[in-house]
Amino acid sequence: MMSQFPVKKRRPCQKEAPPPLNPEDPVRFPDVVLCLVEKRMGASRRTFLTTLARRRGFCVEGADSERVTHVVSEGNSGDEVVEWMKRYRNCWAEAPGSCPALLDLAWFTESISAGHPVEIEPRHCLGVTVKAEKPEDRCQVAAYACQRRTPLVHHNQALVGALETLAEEAHFCGSEGRRLAFSRAASVLKSLPWAVRRIQELSCVPCIGEHSKKIIQEVLEDGTSSEVERVRLSERYQIMKLFIKIFGVGVQTASQWYQEGLRTLSDLETHHAQLRKAQQAGLLHYEDLNIPVELSEAEAIGQVVRKAVEQLLPGASVTLTGGFRRGKQSGHDVDFLITHPEEGQEVGLLSKVISWLDSQGFLLYHSSQRNTFQAMEDELLSSHGSAATMDLFERCFSIFRLDHLHCSIPRGAGTQEPGSMVRDCGASLAWKAVWVDFVVTPYSQFAFALLGWTGSKNFERDLRRFSKLEKKMKLSSHALYHMEQKLYLSAASEEEIFQHLGLEYIPPKERNA
Ligand code: CTP
Ligand code: MN
Ligand code: MN
Repeated sequence: MMSQFPVKKRRPCQKEAPPPLNPEDPVRFPDVVLCLVEKRMGASRRTFLTTLARRRGFCVEGADSERVTHVVSEGNSGDEVVEWMKRYRNCWAEAPGSCPALLDLAWFTESISAGHPVEIEPRHCLGVTVKAEKPEDRCQVAAYACQRRTPLVHHNQALVGALETLAEEAHFCGSEGRRLAFSRAASVLKSLPWAVRRIQELSCVPCIGEHSKKIIQEVLEDGTSSEVERVRLSERYQIMKLFIKIFGVGVQTASQWYQEGLRTLSDLETHHAQLRKAQQAGLLHYEDLNIPVELSEAEAIGQVVRKAVEQLLPGASVTLTGGFRRGKQSGHDVDFLITHPEEGQEVGLLSKVISWLDSQGFLLYHSSQRNTFQAMEDELLSSHGSAATMDLFERCFSIFRLDHLHCSIPRGAGTQEPGSMVRDCGASLAWKAVWVDFVVTPYSQFAFALLGWTGSKNFERDLRRFSKLEKKMKLSSHALYHMEQKLYLSAASEEEIFQHLGLEYIPPKERNA
């Protein structure tokens, strides 16, 4: 019920504003802006001192001014001054670095007699009680990526690059534990709102193990890490990278080829018969598939896909997910999520869409058998839960032929290995091969699929880990299951899923963990 009595409004700023400026006063120290605390000093003495200071070329402003650099008080403790200032500036405590100096009147009188602001000495400063901080107050960085906001552009590129190289190398060696340790350390650094300069700054940051610390320290001191450089230059690392960039090739296959002595893409051509269909297509379009896909290209493909879907099932929707939804301007592929608001309508849609695109000449390769993931590779699976849950989706990996009529991006000509059967699509200015993933989901699972396919992979991994370890729930791209209550929790939006998990909502652009 509303109060019967009128609420009396407090308007301290009006009453306690300094007297108006006299245009004839000089401004001699523009970087020093004083504020005189009226409490205990009294209004008339404050006006007198303000006028005096201004005549001598000092700036004096009210407590609500963001420009204030020196707060001068008479007869108050530091804590009292802080309390008084907080009435005018509610952000006072939040930006300690930008807080003005809290000074006794002695500093003011000495400065007035000196004719300039004197250096601040300890005896001028008003002490403020520092509240005992609980350790968790200082450790603001959360341990799970899904509890942190991670922007696309962050402040620790060199450190992240070094750690991600080591994560990749560990992955190439099959050392999943080491891979996770390095990726987690890299991921947490991406979320820090500052550029790390000293290793001590990380004392409170979680997920950074001893080995990662050592690498970080090396990079901070020397600009590079010898271990990382060694990895980057090693033959095995370089060849593995070459091989896993082939569409349809994962670490296991690449590693096996390396052990068999294969070293170049031409070596693979001699093995052509042993390659799976996806890998053959991948090799054929190797160069194109390794040129980043631009957002405008993804949108151009989106238009074609929307047209097809709309025609085959009116009312169905096509959503661009993956990295582009997180705000990336380019990516290694394009990810689409398709659904229809009437549950059941979506059944069979994917094969119709794929057939239509294929008949129109848009697909250079597609693989959409029920067990699609078998055609792809091991590690796609291992990082995304069990085959049992993956199998439920209608999905398709494809290589899309993007005609540049659909897209105004000019492209440079590429280079071609002489005598190579690796078709240099870069030489063709008319079109480009682009990796496109399609997923069709029933409407009731849409929010889960959207959350699951938006990534990043680190964010997804921690969402699942957080659900399981902290909430006893199992999250997949289909559903959220409460393991103790033995029930499924439905959700119509990503926000609802975060709510079920007791997590603050993190928008896609801040999921770049
Ligand atoms: N994903 C998945 N199952 C797969 C492959 C991918 O659930 N077999 C999910 C991943 O968890 C990720 C999202 O799909 O969240 C997108 O994966 P991907 O396209 O590989 O990565 P992006 O984040 O889109 O990065 P890029 O921009 O390089 O494509
Ligand atoms: Mn993607
Ligand atoms: Mn993808």
